[in-house]
Amino acid sequence: MSTEPNDLLAANRAWAGATEAREPGFFTRLARQQSPRYMWIGCADSRVPANELVSLLPGELFVHRNVANVVVHSDLNALSTVQFAVEHLKVAHIIVVGHYGCAGVRAAMRDLRVGLADNWLRHVQDVRLRHREQLDALPPERQEDVLCEMNVIEQAGNVARSTVLQDAWARGQKLAVHGWVYGLRDGLLKDLGVTMDGPQAVLEVPAAALRRCACAGAGQEPQ
Ligand code: CO
Repeated sequence: MSTEPNDLLAANRAWAGATEAREPGFFTRLARQQSPRYMWIGCADSRVPANELVSLLPGELFVHRNVANVVVHSDLNALSTVQFAVEHLKVAHIIVVGHYGCAGVRAAMRDLRVGLADNWLRHVQDVRLRHREQLDALPPERQEDVLCEMNVIEQAGNVARSTVLQDAWARGQKLAVHGWVYGLRDGLLKDLGVTMDGPQAVLEVPAAALRRCACAGAGQEPQ
């Protein structure tokens, strides 16, 4: 379907009208305050629209997206968003969501040069290099999917190790970080078992999840 910007504006007017008709006062209530329980950190890919996938309405999901769902400790944009979510909105869960078939992960896996973004994807290549032995041992057709999963686990670990999360846990704030991966082919989200709800979990959970996903990728039982 080909659309022009004016069609989008018309669609927006129809959506706003239908939403207000279904739930009178919806927008005026939301305009006063947002109090989302969840934060989503995902890929910018147009096929992975955060709210739709989990059936959450405006006001229910605080979202940060970038190429290949990367969270690095020098990225003020991501960290500021996390800080706002944790300290002001007091979200209870932060979910890092990757997806299979991610072009950024593919470029990192195959050493493809895409331009300026190569510097950003260097972070995903770093994940690949850290786990090169396990990845190289996998059948070639599984490597990219497993790197998608490993990238989610590593980025979830980065969120959990950030000063924002460490400080929140030190204050006694209840807050968990999770890692999920989305299947473009079936529309399903998979939990990668990297849920961290305190500083101790950060030390153990990502390493175990990485071992599990390397074993599952190789078709073996986890060790
Ligand atoms: Co992607």
